[in-house]
Amino acid sequence: MRTSISKIREMKQKGEKIAMITAYDYAMAKIVDEAGIPMILVGDSLAMVVLGYESTVSVTIDEMLHHTKAVVRGTKNALVVGDMPFMTYHTSTADALRNAARFIQEAGAQAVKLEGGVTVAETVKAVVDCGIPVMGHIGLTPQSINQLGGYKVQGRTEAAAKRLLEDAKALEQAGAFAVVIETVPTPLAALITRRISIPTIGIGAGNGCDGQVQVVSDILGLFTDFVPKHAKQYAKLADEIRAAVIAYGTEVRDGRFPTEAHSFSMDESVLEALKE
Ligand code: KIV
Repeated sequence: MRTSISKIREMKQKGEKIAMITAYDYAMAKIVDEAGIPMILVGDSLAMVVLGYESTVSVTIDEMLHHTKAVVRGTKNALVVGDMPFMTYHTSTADALRNAARFIQEAGAQAVKLEGGVTVAETVKAVVDCGIPVMGHIGLTPQSINQLGGYKVQGRTEAAAKRLLEDAKALEQAGAFAVVIETVPTPLAALITRRISIPTIGIGAGNGCDGQVQVVSDILGLFTDFVPKHAKQYAKLADEIRAAVIAYGTEVRDGRFPTEAHSFSMDESVLEALKE
């Protein structure tokens, strides 16, 4: 049975740390699910780490849905959260509801995530009131990269820290079941975690959050354009893949692949019948 949002809330109450990770396709989602990760985010980081866009603002809802469907097909146990892309929940509440519903109805996700705090609280409430669980996202919100002026640590001044706390409380009030806190100093994220009842899921927000989320391509060393400071590489898959592909190319060129082990035989009599 899939992890429920009540289970995620209960984990905070029991002090159990929550591990979340992104996935974008069937094969990876299956591995992550089998590894026992309770919550998978089909993040709009898809834009950069899979589709090669410069930032997350370029990814469309149809691209997000396409990948969310694949992740849902690859999972049996994880709660799948679909990330609502830039401008799919800003134009009107009706648009936000319609687009959130597409993640649930068309793609089969169990929840959606959207960026912002106080400014999106009404939208979050409207989506939640329709029965769609919402995860918030505050701090460094990459969809606002042009407004923020770069991927910078958020909440370092008193005013900014107060705003972040207000954002977190607004999301809690609006009915969000959890909130991602991205690139925020450790003590501030820990304070927010203590002040709200819903789980905080940190990324670059230190160890005081209720859980952590990471981009799968970062922690597996698959995405090599840059490695964010907050990401620990548990593997260097790009190196392994490159070595494997080089070995394959060499063996094909040398005639060492395929061998009999990777080929198919047939009855001699059939060949005889084809003789000229
Ligand atoms: O898109 C994404 O992967 C995210 C995480 C970094 C939280 O929003």
